[in-house]
Amino acid sequence: MTIVGIIGAGTMGAEIAHVATVAGMDVLVADADLDRAGQGVERARAIGARRVERGRLDPAAADAAARRLRAVAGIDDLADVDVVIEAVPEDLVLKTAIHRRIDEVVRPDALVATNTSGLSVTALGDATRMPSRLVGLHFFNPASTMQLVEVIAGAATDEATITRATALADALGKTPVRVRECPGFVVNRVLVRAMAEAYRAAAGAPVDRRAADATVVEGGPAPMGPFALGDLVGLDVLESIRADLEAAYGDRFDDSGTLAPLVAAGDLGRKSGRGLVPDGDPAPTGTEPVVAAVYYAAAMDEARRLADEGVASPADIDLAMCLGAGWSDGPLASS
Ligand SMILES: NC(=O)c1ccc[n+]([C@@H]2O[C@H](COP(=O)([O-])OP(=O)(O)OC[C@H]3O[C@@H](n4cnc5c(N)ncnc54)[C@H](O)[C@@H]3O)[C@@H](O)[C@H]2O)c1
Repeated sequence: MTIVGIIGAGTMGAEIAHVATVAGMDVLVADADLDRAGQGVERARAIGARRVERGRLDPAAADAAARRLRAVAGIDDLADVDVVIEAVPEDLVLKTAIHRRIDEVVRPDALVATNTSGLSVTALGDATRMPSRLVGLHFFNPASTMQLVEVIAGAATDEATITRATALADALGKTPVRVRECPGFVVNRVLVRAMAEAYRAAAGAPVDRRAADATVVEGGPAPMGPFALGDLVGLDVLESIRADLEAAYGDRFDDSGTLAPLVAAGDLGRKSGRGLVPDGDPAPTGTEPVVAAVYYAAAMDEARRLADEGVASPADIDLAMCLGAGWSDGPLASS
């Protein structure tokens, strides 16, 4: 029986805890204190209850899963777990402190994973005495339904760790894709590049954003256009990732200043009710073939760069885009 310790039981931690218990694992949930860990357990149980309501999970399986969850006071209670999955907020200082503590407390043969969306697994590992056992396991939100897990090897992650992490993702019922570390990993790097280029193409031109989204959906494998996707992700989250990727890779991630003023004005997309495509806009009438062509060309170019750099295999890049971004076909397959 695998015992999993989750550190940070917010949005992602609770989802991952639920997934692990459904897969038959016992899960110890740690958060900033015991109260918050208890809230995390309740969150994970609520995910199970919602899935039962929607007919996606058998009630008996949800009950059994709920019983496998236990809140603990902190990392010190995870000394004997087989696997640790860290899902605290995306803050390098905080995550470094957590991984140092894991290093001191958790038994040396345990697998240690971080669910970071974009921080360096290498940098986190370097802060510990055992960087070879640290791996990135990038689950997608909501982890209970999203099939993809990017398995991120940092510079010091050893092969045995990758093998164990891949087996863990399989045991959780997910599809692991092996990724050599780079800013953005695979899915975010391809999507954000394509979105930034589409925003740049539309900036300053009289583009109907809804028509651009519709043209993207009609003309290729993406299930959603770049403007609707930005509003769904949240423009603050997107702008933070985009700015990091522009700092890492340069101008191809430049969005011509599309997102920053919206974020500054508090227009964050769906969660604030206003964003790139404000509610109540008239339905699109025409098409926007230029924006759609730019979107797919940029995605294809970034996917090719990933393959050329050896970040992931072409087949895995395509698989990641299908499972992590809902594309009906991968960007390299359709090129
Ligand atoms: N939300 C997403 O869509 C998404 C998707 C993929 C990856 N991620 C990554 O997952 C990680 C967690 O994101 P989230 O959205 O679940 O965040 P969240 O804010 O919902 O949850 C974070 C949890 O960590 C807890 N926490 C804070 N400080 C702690 C400490 N010192 N010790 C233990 N627990 C502590 C918080 O109380 C909270 O319960 C981040 O690295 C994020 O980048 C998020």
